[in-house]
Amino acid sequence: MNARQADLGRATAADRSAEPFDLERIRADFPILRQQVHGKPLVYLDNAASSQMPQPVIDRLVRYQTTQHANIHRGVHLLSELATSEYEAARCTLQGFLNAAQAREVIFTSGTTDAINLVMHGHGRKFIRSGDEIILTTMEHHANIVPWQMLAEETGATIRVVPLLDTGELCLDAYAALFNARTRFVGVTHVSNALGSINPVKAMIATAHAHGVPVLVDGAQAVPHMPVDVQDLDCDFYVFSGHKLCGPTGIGVLYGKAALLEAMQPFKGGGDMILSVSFGGTVYNTIPHKFEAGTPPIAAAIGLGAAVDYLGTIGLPAIARHEHALLQQATAQLGALPGVRLVGTARRKAAVLSFVLDGVHPHDVGTLLDQEGIAVRTGHHCAQPLMTRLKLPATVRASFAFYNSPAEVDALVAGVRAVQKVFA
Ligand code: ALA
Repeated sequence: MNARQADLGRATAADRSAEPFDLERIRADFPILRQQVHGKPLVYLDNAASSQMPQPVIDRLVRYQTTQHANIHRGVHLLSELATSEYEAARCTLQGFLNAAQAREVIFTSGTTDAINLVMHGHGRKFIRSGDEIILTTMEHHANIVPWQMLAEETGATIRVVPLLDTGELCLDAYAALFNARTRFVGVTHVSNALGSINPVKAMIATAHAHGVPVLVDGAQAVPHMPVDVQDLDCDFYVFSGHKLCGPTGIGVLYGKAALLEAMQPFKGGGDMILSVSFGGTVYNTIPHKFEAGTPPIAAAIGLGAAVDYLGTIGLPAIARHEHALLQQATAQLGALPGVRLVGTARRKAAVLSFVLDGVHPHDVGTLLDQEGIAVRTGHHCAQPLMTRLKLPATVRASFAFYNSPAEVDALVAGVRAVQKVFA
């Protein structure tokens, strides 16, 4: 069953882009998009913070809660067996989505942050020592900085940082030059949440592996926008959150190569992560259960599986094409406005557009856009070292999803012009 479900997951998530992209039909799947905000139609452009949930995923959650819920891996009764099989089927769907070699390489976590903390505790605390070095990049989200700083503080390891070019791309020569005999780990984001830059992670992983160093890729901003194949990337760990992928909050994934996961220490102790317990000692369960102590977010995992199935009905290549067109439109239109500076002009970008307006604080831009029904994020985007490098306190960030329309890009541009008039 596992291999077949994984095949289905892969086929649904990535390979059906030949079907026509019907934006109106897609938008109709998202009830929240029918809302008005401050009396204006909602224009939701804060998808990098959290995406919206389509009706089929909402329906799946309702079906689970109304007909299938019980605790998993514990009961012999029908509902428990049903909930267990639905939860494990969701794991297989995620395996297919990532093209992981085995379902047991998919660990359900509460999200990206939880997954990175799990790797820090399980792998980092076991294998990283005083004097060792961890490579991160200037554009990491705080979730891929702070856990490693905590580890460095505890162990005496050092963090080395890949510098950023003015375009918002990483300096790959400097990255390659950071490796030495003490390098033990690399953490890199696949896509910058603040700039949208797509990093060449496959090449970066190859560089690290040439030095025998494992790599964790933060895929939170990548998986909603493009097909990801963890075997092709050859990453050691890949992490992401469900709620940026049209799924529920409180669920995420840690993919890890089986041998690395097996070598890791468990992070949380409790039920389900054990094979046997006595006061003489505990024998831990096998992966993935070793890392899923206690009752997991069963409904959320099943909802995430449904979200991946839903994305498969559209196809990630088709999603990438539509979002790229939106990004190009927004870049051209906003970039042409006097007094607007686009921040982050990498050659390869996902659907994120950061910008600043001359003489107007980003928070004021966000507040005035909200009055027009337009939701964007303003601030440092949980990437303060990046903002320091850019010499900016904050930006305005519009982040697009496949359900956004060209008309919504026009609304954003009109909203920005209106803000400029207010501050003229
Ligand atoms: N990481 C999320 C963002 O970029 C919260 O907005």
